Amino acid sequence: MPAAPESIGDAADLPIVSEATGDRFGVEALVAAAFGPGRFAKTAERLREGSTPLAGFVARDGQRVVGSVRLWPIRIGGEPAAFLGPIAVDARLRKGGLGARLVEQCLAEAQARGLRAVLLVGDAPYFGRFGFVRAEGARLPGPADPKRVLIRTQTGAAPAGAVEKG
Ligand SMILES: CC(C)(COP(=O)(O)OP(=O)(O)OC[C@H]1O[C@@H](n2cnc3c(N)ncnc32)[C@H](O)[C@@H]1OP(=O)(O)O)[C@@H](O)C(=O)NCCC(=O)NCCS
Repeated sequence: MPAAPESIGDAADLPIVSEATGDRFGVEALVAAAFGPGRFAKTAERLREGSTPLAGFVARDGQRVVGSVRLWPIRIGGEPAAFLGPIAVDARLRKGGLGARLVEQCLAEAQARGLRAVLLVGDAPYFGRFGFVRAEGARLPGPADPKRVLIRTQTGAAPAGAVEKG
């Protein structure tokens, strides 16, 4: 007889909390399941490797990490900003608003830190709803599809120039 599927909560009921040290392996497993092994070759990874996140947020279902996002320090044309990603939600809990709440948490965090802009590499059809637009003037440290390099700016014109670890 096949095993009964593991019970999993409702996405809307799960609080978003700060990532703790003990979440590390759960976050890695979730991200690996969502993106696969190729992600380390990506230009986005060059902005993260060797850096310490400004913040990380998770949703847990019991002990299991079912949602995760991290925010990293970068500079765009010399101006301090935040780089969002990776963001991942357990496939069984998608379309329940968890992804949106993780993004909003990052935007609030960036604002609280006085950072005017949040940059990411991702799908415009998803991130457009949060105010992300093409980052026309941002030059990443490697190849990236310009349609996927997105920025959300709190006030004023979007910062432009070389993007580097902050
Ligand atoms: C992207 C992701 C984090 C969204 O999490 P989520 O909890 O499902 O997000 P929400 O519930 O807030 O939003 C779901 C909506 O976004 C849409 N959506 C999800 N991913 C999308 C994408 N890549 N492009 C366009 N729309 C997308 C869903 O179809 C759904 O639409 P609906 O509201 O019309 O049903 C999740 O799908 C995921 O982990 N994906 C795999 C990893 C990934 O692709 N990360 C982002 C890189 S661009």
